[in-house]
Amino acid sequence: MRLQVVPSGTPAVPSDPAVALQQLLADGVTWGDSSAWLPALPAKSIDLFFTSPPYADQRAYSRIHPDRYVEWFLPFARAMYDASADSGSLVINIKNRVAKDGPLRGQRHPYVFQLVIALQNMGWRWVEEYIWQKPNAIPGKFGPRTKDAFEHVFHFARGAKPYFDLDAIRVPYKTTDDEIARRRLDTNGRRTTEAGFGRDRVGTYRHGGADPGNVVSVSQTYNQHRGVKHTAAMPEGLAEFFIKAVSPVGGTVIDPFAGGGTTAVVARRHGRLAGGIELHEEFATEARRRIAADVDSDVPGQMLGLG
Ligand SMILES: C[S@@+](CC[C@H](N)C(=O)[O-])C[C@H]1O[C@@H](n2cnc3c(N)ncnc32)[C@H](O)[C@@H]1O
Repeated sequence: MRLQVVPSGTPAVPSDPAVALQQLLADGVTWGDSSAWLPALPAKSIDLFFTSPPYADQRAYSRIHPDRYVEWFLPFARAMYDASADSGSLVINIKNRVAKDGPLRGQRHPYVFQLVIALQNMGWRWVEEYIWQKPNAIPGKFGPRTKDAFEHVFHFARGAKPYFDLDAIRVPYKTTDDEIARRRLDTNGRRTTEAGFGRDRVGTYRHGGADPGNVVSVSQTYNQHRGVKHTAAMPEGLAEFFIKAVSPVGGTVIDPFAGGGTTAVVARRHGRLAGGIELHEEFATEARRRIAADVDSDVPGQMLGLG
């Protein structure tokens, strides 16, 4: 069921799937409706759909009631599943809300969890839940609860062996260099220690960095970053983490709810082919301006080959 008003005059979607994909990649962010573009993509062609869809009932651009959110989202999810490569993924950043009406009024609405279950039932494999932790969450009055200091990021995969590169997102070890050097000389390898049963104290330090874990701490940019005009632009650091981990260099990344174009900007900067679809013309225009500015500020050779 369609709950959005489709703007008239949006460019037609090419009937040839390969041409449709080429156009999205060439545009950077295309003004249009994802419910028309996603089914037009070639089968099994996309490495990563990375997106922050409209949250339930929250912004001027989205009036999707949380009770109907799953029903609204499922056709997009179906089309993304069909267009996803066997090793491809769908990564969704989404936030809960407190119900404003109905029997759940005043409680957290479970639409985010209902969506996860519905996607799993559709065949998407739920790989992981990440917490995007915001060190600079804005305080306010939220009833009997604290301020919202995190959002969910769910990783779903089409197949059993999704692309995933942990090495691309490793962080510096917390252990000192001296201690790492000392442990490298440890010939005893895996053994039970106070810090963990059967932990391989030597192998841990052979990777050039530590596993960052599934809590990703990135400050919210609150619409001030690089002059992005969109009211809900995500920080580039969040997009960078998932694009690097879940899509290969040279792979294809699509954001079906592109907003101000953060996914396309960051994915292109890191050597992926990237495109997006955005319902509102002014956001799509802004996104393309942002992509062009990012390309202009690029030093030669930086666009490709970064892990
Ligand atoms: C949360 S915002 C995305 C923000 C984006 N991640 C960024 O960094 O700017 C969601 C966007 O989805 C767009 N949208 C909603 N329904 C859409 C549809 N059917 N097709 C394409 N875009 C849509 C909205 O206009 C809105 O700009």
